[in-house]
Amino acid sequence: MNMQRIEVKEGNFNLKDYQEAYKQFDWEDVKKEFSWSETGKVNIAYEAVDRHAENPNKADQDALIYSAPDREEHVTFSQLKKSSNQFANVLSSHGIEKGDRVFLFMPRSPEFYSAFFGILKVGAIAGPLFEAFMEQAVRDRLEDSEATMLITTPELLERVPYSELPHLKQIVLVGDDPKTNEEGFIDFHKEMSQASESFGIEWVDLEDGMLLHYTSGSTGKPKGVYHVHNAMLQHYQTTKWVLDVKEDDVYWCTADPGWVTGTSYGIFGPWLNGVTNVIVGGRFSPENWYKAIQDHGVTVWYSAPTAFRKLMSAGEEAVKPYDISKLRHIASVGEPLNPEVIAWGLDAFKLRIHDTWWMTETGAQLICNYPAMEMKPGSMGKPFPGIVASIIDNEGNELPPNQMGNLAIKAPWPSMMRAIWERPEKFESYFLNGWYISGDSAYYDEEGYFWFQGRLDDVINTSGERVGPFEVESKLIEHEAVAEAGVIGKPDPERGEIIKAFITLNEGYQESEELLEDIRQFVKKGLSAHAAPRELEVKDKIPKTRSGKIMRRLLKSWELGLPTGDLSTLDE
Ligand code: WTA
Repeated sequence: MNMQRIEVKEGNFNLKDYQEAYKQFDWEDVKKEFSWSETGKVNIAYEAVDRHAENPNKADQDALIYSAPDREEHVTFSQLKKSSNQFANVLSSHGIEKGDRVFLFMPRSPEFYSAFFGILKVGAIAGPLFEAFMEQAVRDRLEDSEATMLITTPELLERVPYSELPHLKQIVLVGDDPKTNEEGFIDFHKEMSQASESFGIEWVDLEDGMLLHYTSGSTGKPKGVYHVHNAMLQHYQTTKWVLDVKEDDVYWCTADPGWVTGTSYGIFGPWLNGVTNVIVGGRFSPENWYKAIQDHGVTVWYSAPTAFRKLMSAGEEAVKPYDISKLRHIASVGEPLNPEVIAWGLDAFKLRIHDTWWMTETGAQLICNYPAMEMKPGSMGKPFPGIVASIIDNEGNELPPNQMGNLAIKAPWPSMMRAIWERPEKFESYFLNGWYISGDSAYYDEEGYFWFQGRLDDVINTSGERVGPFEVESKLIEHEAVAEAGVIGKPDPERGEIIKAFITLNEGYQESEELLEDIRQFVKKGLSAHAAPRELEVKDKIPKTRSGKIMRRLLKSWELGLPTGDLSTLDE
């Protein structure tokens, strides 16, 4: 197969409609999709939930299909409206108001979504945390945001140092616990059962806050990325055009709401579009995932390269027992999508996997492979309509095609972060000459396709040649023995840096000198001599963040015996 380009699968998508629509696109037109364009009263919870609950044709449609090993539940738009109203009443009765920060530290469950929209309905700002966070990570985020309320479970409470957090006044416990009798603790189920199902939504301004997502850079403490209700324009439109959802789709985004993908596209995108949203609890396994797609009739699936690579290493055999024939569209985000994975997807699913690029700070997709666009595997695609992307040098000048530089976006766009919580200087540091600087290095080709090279601090310089770790990793995993790879530059007196690769092996392969040499030669022949790793080390696991990003800086600190820095986002 020609893997240089993959054509649009005609029939699946109405190419013409899309192309016409893209040409005439204007964000102003998107506003007309929402009631606030007439009333001036805004709340993203209204547009995502209540609007559908008030529509007789949609009220009884499943908004949520929650599926975990021990619990399966369907929640209609009408039910979600009522339960989030109830929680909004609980919050109001405890004095929570517009602008307050209310954090969620609990697993995905129907209660999570009622609580989340309840927070938004009172005009407060939601702060979702990964349930796997340990004490320090929880403390840092609650301290920095000065959150006054936390919603958690009795099991997770031991990781909340509440007596040392002066701003944290109240804790809502989802689950039975004697603590709920103590001052400052609230029993979720008890208060919900007593709360009214109607609530007068707090109407806010488009520029009012709704979400704080903490994200770690390579240095320093995590920063609070602040998003406002206006982001709904882009959540809505990108989900519609890039994830291609239609009214009768069953959509599944695998991301946890502790990560921006789990809110922008696990909550807002699908529900602003009124589609049925599948949430799968429990642990990842290829069997569980394929079974979820089969059992719920998933049609549109948004996941991440790390998951696709795991499925790939489980082999096509793992798919075969399941009927996943309803699946018609797949997209990916979080790190570069290896061409090898795309090729596998074409075999295993008979579908293209569409890469999308964006960041916590950008709030929504910016550079994408749309369904109606020819794909070049390895490229993250082209800017979404209405988005201007470029490559600039360190002075803020635009570079011509095929030159590596800073990937930058013309500011602003609807879902752009509006602040870094309480750190205006940090926020300012993202911008140069009207451009938002992503911190990623990339280039674009003559046809306007963007190609990711690495985080700026990950790019390797070996004997004067710049090498993106992603390229080398992608080549490594094409080798039949290699499951995953993480590549770093290791300081070297002669070459500046040499390339060191950490790999995990597929089942059935044993580490040996011959095998490692074979892998080295494979990269050398497939990529180039200077890109072949001089050092190869076999590991049991490659360290990754919870959102599936290879933690190259951690590999590097291990290698160099340096302090490891903030590890709160490291996956188990
Ligand atoms: C990386 C994720 C290559 C990139 C929604 C970016 C990607 C960072 C891609 C943001 C992609 C995300 N190709 N790299 N398609 N998508 N990244 O904040 O380095 O968790 O700057 O948001 O992930 O990660 P974040």
